[in-house]
Amino acid sequence: MGLTWSRMPVTPLDEMPLPDHPFLDPALYRDGMARYAGHVQVVTTEFEGVRRGVTVTAACSVSDNPPTLLACLNSSNANNAIFGKSGIFALNSLAAHHEALATAFAGLSGVPAEERFTLGTWTTLATGAPVLADAVVSFDCRLTDIKQVSTHFVMFGEVKAIHFGEARPSLIYLDRGFRTL
Ligand SMILES: Cc1cc2nc3c(=O)[nH]c(=O)nc-3n(C[C@H](O)[C@H](O)[C@H](O)COP(=O)(O)O)c2cc1C
Repeated sequence: MGLTWSRMPVTPLDEMPLPDHPFLDPALYRDGMARYAGHVQVVTTEFEGVRRGVTVTAACSVSDNPPTLLACLNSSNANNAIFGKSGIFALNSLAAHHEALATAFAGLSGVPAEERFTLGTWTTLATGAPVLADAVVSFDCRLTDIKQVSTHFVMFGEVKAIHFGEARPSLIYLDRGFRTL
């Protein structure tokens, strides 16, 4: 006799017993996550004429009603504060041919921040956040909530518009390297 989801007993978080074991080694966690394939995306925003893009894999769907997704950004990087100020962002899912773009927006290839957007063609949809014209798909979002969780802040966005680029193989990050699928 299985429990239905709605009848499952729920323990409020503040009543949960404290763990009696130490936290898992972060390096071990990273080794585990290296085996977890992630679609490479560039999350973008624009505020007072300044654009910012960050390569991420920590992003996923939350709900289809209303359409909602989340993306996680490192809060120790002061340049990421612009996302909270603008209240808008776009999640651009990259194709196989976007590896140089992904590397640039990760700050790994030495391309200065202001030059990174020259590596792609950008447009806007409903919110004004930069949308990559040839992304596999782009989700244009209004920021609905932002939560600080350990080292990152989690941005929740309600999707206001979608742009479908050409259906092409996707850029994936797995085993600490770029792959295509
Ligand atoms: C494949 C890949 C995935 C990444 N995922 C994330 C992520 O989910 N969240 C995040 O804050 N940074 C992530 N990063 C790191 C950021 O891209 C990087 O710290 C940032 O863009 C540096 O920007 P800056 O040079 O403008 O400071 C990722 C990097 C790579 C290469």
